[in-house]
Amino acid sequence: MTRRQIISDPTIGNKAEAFEAFDDIPTNQNLGKTIGDVINARYGRRGVLRGMLGVTATTALFGTSALVAPRQARAKASKSRYVFDELTWGNDETHHVADGYDAKVLLRWGDPITADAPEFDVMNQTASAQLGQFGYNNDYVGFVPLNDDGSRGLLCVNHEYTNEEVMFPGLGRQDRAQFSGMTPALIDIEMAAHGGSVVEIAKGDTGAWQVVRDGKMNRRITPLETAMTFDGPAAGHARLKTNDDADGTNVIGTLNNCAGGMTPWGTWLMAEENFHGYFWTNMLDDDGKPVIAADHPEVVSYKRYGIPGMWYAWGAHHDRFNIDSEPHAPNKFGWVVEVDPMDPTSVPVKHTALGRFRHEGAETTVASDGRLVIYMGDDNRFDYQYKYVSAGKVSDDRAANSNLLSDGTLYVARFDADGTVNWLPLIHGEGPLTAENGFADQGDVLIDTRIAADLLSATPMDRPEDAQPRGDGTAYIMLTNNTKRKKDQVNAANPRAENSFGHIIEIKEDGANHAATAGTWSILVKCGDPGVTEVGAQWNPDTSENGWFGSPDNCAIDADGRLWVATDQGGNWNKTGKSDGLYAVETEGDGRGSSRLFFRCPVGSEMCGPYFTADGETLFVAVQHPGTDGTKNLVGFERESTFEDPATRWPDFDPKMPPRPSVVVITKQGGGKIAV
Ligand code: FEO
Ligand code: CA
Repeated sequence: MTRRQIISDPTIGNKAEAFEAFDDIPTNQNLGKTIGDVINARYGRRGVLRGMLGVTATTALFGTSALVAPRQARAKASKSRYVFDELTWGNDETHHVADGYDAKVLLRWGDPITADAPEFDVMNQTASAQLGQFGYNNDYVGFVPLNDDGSRGLLCVNHEYTNEEVMFPGLGRQDRAQFSGMTPALIDIEMAAHGGSVVEIAKGDTGAWQVVRDGKMNRRITPLETAMTFDGPAAGHARLKTNDDADGTNVIGTLNNCAGGMTPWGTWLMAEENFHGYFWTNMLDDDGKPVIAADHPEVVSYKRYGIPGMWYAWGAHHDRFNIDSEPHAPNKFGWVVEVDPMDPTSVPVKHTALGRFRHEGAETTVASDGRLVIYMGDDNRFDYQYKYVSAGKVSDDRAANSNLLSDGTLYVARFDADGTVNWLPLIHGEGPLTAENGFADQGDVLIDTRIAADLLSATPMDRPEDAQPRGDGTAYIMLTNNTKRKKDQVNAANPRAENSFGHIIEIKEDGANHAATAGTWSILVKCGDPGVTEVGAQWNPDTSENGWFGSPDNCAIDADGRLWVATDQGGNWNKTGKSDGLYAVETEGDGRGSSRLFFRCPVGSEMCGPYFTADGETLFVAVQHPGTDGTKNLVGFERESTFEDPATRWPDFDPKMPPRPSVVVITKQGGGKIAV
């Protein structure tokens, strides 16, 4: 579908669903090399055929009755290491956690987080108030302890994007209305609600986590006003220069901060994902499609990155988001930003050595040889999995450690049919990455990471979302779905055509060293309903009706090295009938490939975070865009949520308050490690 078709599609009910649909527009035209060359060499012809019947058949099999009531659990996972009574699947207006656990709302959109911030007044929002309040659509959650027992610390939270139709009264979907209702004041509120928050939290007298409202390190980071710098090989590059920044070394703001990571030295990495959606042009054809002149210096790059996306009207009011007046401005986004949460005056740094793409996450680990390794997905259909390896080693010198993000090698993954994964270095002058192919220097390689990876014949994946290293040479890659993959485009690592439900790949790096340039891979699970043969799902049979899921997105490893997976089905939950949630996915022993449901989101939300504290006793999860996804298919609701008429008013359930994205803190009743 084109942008115009997505915006006018009546089945796409809200911005969150539209975002998912925009991810459906592949920009990678370089798929020919893998077509047919590795089909099914690893899994056999029958497996591929089973996976070929896609969405339509599945939806028809379920109908909407699947949304009415949970089917009975048919199995009980007995070989899993996760000790808890599995939650029953379903879909309703509030959240649910497994018996014996508390799941309390800790921080909601609009909660004041600085001492001088006003209380939230949803009917009288202002940008200046929002700059002191918790932002919208919480995604990544990290935690930095401030004392030895970890009972005080800083929560670092990304605010990915805004949904104007449930955020502001009386507006509705603005992309369908040519943004006619988006005043400069509303745009500035949107900008102030993006970015991130640092919030001190502490366990109170009762042991419950509470916000420390006057925490000295509490701060907001936004695309409206937070100054940042660039470092690494692309800093100062001619293609980063704008009217505001003749040196190409500075930028105001970060945006669409999706997943992220914490470094071993306690800094916070914010990944910039769908940055293309924020850029604007006044040059449109009759279909409303942006027209980029054929001789525009960035035309090839813009096309590969989907710029300008025009999801927001910021560029109509701020030149730095308008490519007509600032043709290089998009090159200042799509990076990974490092923030030192311990210093509220610190200037965030965009580390160009980590490459530029639709960065999903940036989870770190220290390799067995002491180097820093970061796994990073590029969340678009047919895009790639990346890994960064520092040149130097992690040390006790905190300031010196940040240089590890400036000097290192960026690799892209090629998953071969024989079960090996090769990490291909993106280094200027090596292989095809030369001036004659358009790369004058390493800055060009990094600014156009996607194009460089195309030339290296990396493996086009089914939307790489979060990726999580375990520290022992093992990493888990969440491939969320790819309904655009045709049967002649499957490859061994992405074996299902019309992959509606996604899969998870496990990587074992050579020598158990995360810095290795090769390893082996296998598919841990193929998601979807194992009871529907045509879906081609692959789960351990111990997985119950509650435990299987679709669309793995975010993930975490707990204090005992166990994997947890959060889901985001976009608008597609009529394909499973389930709400999004958090699942315990066993990776070891007889229970490998089994999954159990631990937490369920309120209707219309996706599950972000999750993050475990080092003692394994606290789990933070982020409930993003409650009330918006898939509500047109919700039996009894069957319409798009708006500010005035949302599918849920979670978490306040106040008739005057719309749903609010919120961070939830989960602990075991009576204390102790989670799922132990
Ligand atoms: Fe922001 Fe790819 O999820
Ligand atoms: Ca995500």
